[in-house]
Formats: sequence, structure tokens, C-alpha cells
Amino acid sequence: MITVSAPGKLLLFGEHAAVYGYPCIVTAVGQRMKATVELLDTPEFQLDAEDVHLTEYRKQMAEIGRGDIPKAAEFVEIAVRNFLKKYPMDKGIHITTSSTFSSSFGFGSSSATTVCVLTALSELFEKKLAHKELFDLSYRTVLDVQKTGSGFDVAAAIYGGTIFYERNGETIEPLPLKEVPIVVGYSGVKADTVRLIGDVKKKFDHEPEKVTRIFEAITKIVHEAKQKLPEGDWERVGTLMNFNQEYLRDLGVSTEKLEAMIYAAKGAGAYGAKLSGAGGGDCMICITPNDKRNAVAEALTQAGGEVLDVSANAEGVRIQG
Ligand code: MEV
Repeated sequence: MITVSAPGKLLLFGEHAAVYGYPCIVTAVGQRMKATVELLDTPEFQLDAEDVHLTEYRKQMAEIGRGDIPKAAEFVEIAVRNFLKKYPMDKGIHITTSSTFSSSFGFGSSSATTVCVLTALSELFEKKLAHKELFDLSYRTVLDVQKTGSGFDVAAAIYGGTIFYERNGETIEPLPLKEVPIVVGYSGVKADTVRLIGDVKKKFDHEPEKVTRIFEAITKIVHEAKQKLPEGDWERVGTLMNFNQEYLRDLGVSTEKLEAMIYAAKGAGAYGAKLSGAGGGDCMICITPNDKRNAVAEALTQAGGEVLDVSANAEGVRIQG
């Protein structure tokens, strides 16, 4: 039996452009997913995932990845199927997953769970996977289930810290920094990432040149942020977030609620603020001087947001002691 945990993530820069292979910067957050995996002598697949209201999900190992799969079981079941395709074995498996955060926040709970399960299986079967192999298998799983996504959330769950990520994982470069002074506000609305990626795709298909120009402008911001983050130049990092937000607005993925929270945070002294992730809801983040954190949190609450106690730059996947 083994228990593994992996962090959730927040995108600091580059959302949506990342889906088209452009770079983004992601930070791993202190909130973690956990999976406990146990081998069984009976050839059964058993999953208990109370945090997503799935208990006593059972099927024969021979049926894994086949038939009706409940949404809450998809990532775990397809992860196990993909592992067994590569490393066949004849044991049964019992998996329990849990989370220290709500799957509504957009912290990438599905990707983090996938990474936990695949890490646990590779440990139990003594297939020491290098980070990149684990990334490839996990990203394959996410694409099998979700059909789309740049994979940056998988990289954050594995490597942790703060990462410069490009071309669907061809570049995964940890940035040398100790902290990121963010305040995070949840908009109260769960975003539908796949739909939002589809909306941007429609825009791209309709006006490829205009949207490409937006992606290229975002890329310049990402490259400058890559320099400024390790220098701790938070004022400039905040300004870059403001620029990035303008392009996200142009892409049509911001909402009134997110805008109200961003406006409130800046008014209360944040250096800069933007939505984080797909948009359409989920979270916004801001870079805030230490002495303004309380005022910014207060302003976010006033604007109808929920301030989340989130630390950035957290540790990647690990086997629990
Ligand atoms: C979603 O958190 C961020 C997107 O860029 C999608 C992705 O990169 O997978 C919209």
C-alpha cells in the first residue's frame, strides 16, 4: 500500500496561448490531492473518491477502461488502464483519493490525481519512472479523457515550484525563486475549461491573424515575466499581469465578476491582477505588497469573491512518509 500526494496549480501567465504551444508560467500551490493505492489478490478494480462523491465503484480488471465510466472515475480509471497497457500485471487494485481543496477552484485536481495514481503504481510495481516519463503517461491520460489541454497542470503536479512551460511539455523549466506574493480570490463560479478552450478555438478559426497577434503579445509578456519573477521585481510582475489580463479580456474569457474582483484588488493596492486559468469563473490572482495583503483581501471579499488561503511555489509529487 502506498500514499502519494501532488499539488494543485495556478497559472501566473499565458493561459489559452499555451493550448497553441506558446509558453506559460505556472506555480504549484500548497493545496494537494492524495491517492492511496493498494494491491489486491482478486482481479478487481476498486475506487473510492469521496471528495467527488464516488464510493464503492467496482469493476473487473479485465473491464478497465471499457463500458460506462462515471465522470468522477474517468481520470483514475484511464490512468490505470494506460499504466497496465505499458506494464501488464494480473493484480487487483484498490484506490482511495482525497483532496485538501474543492475541485471547483480550477486548481487542476484531475491532473494532480492522475499524477498521484501513476506515481503510486510505478512505485508499487518498481518501475522507477523519470519525471519526463511520468509526465508523458499522465499527459496522455489527461488527453484521453479531456481531449484537449496544454499539459502545464500535469507538469506543475510533478515538478512543483514555478515552471516555464512550452510546446506541450517539450520545455519544462523550473524557475529559481523562493516565493510568489499572491492573493487568490475565487469567483464562486466553476469554469468549464473545455468549453472555454472551444470558444477561443472558434475565435481563432474565425480570425486567425488577430488571435495569433494576441498570443504573440502574451508570449512577450511571459518571456519578460520569466526574467522578472526570479528577480523578485513584484511591481513589474504585477504590471505584466495587468497587460496579460487585457489580452485575456480581448479573447473573451473574462467575466464581470472577475473584472470586479480585479478592479477591487488593484484599487486596494495590488501591483497587478488577472484571472488565472481558463476564465469564465474559477479564480483571479494578484501580486500584492506585504503591507497591502489585508486590504486587498478585504476588497476582494467586498467585491463578492472568496479569498483562498493559497501558498505558491509548493513541492511537487511526493510519496507520503
Ligand atoms: C486552463 O487552466 C488553462 C488553459 O490554457 C488550458 C490549458 O492550457 O490546458 C485555458
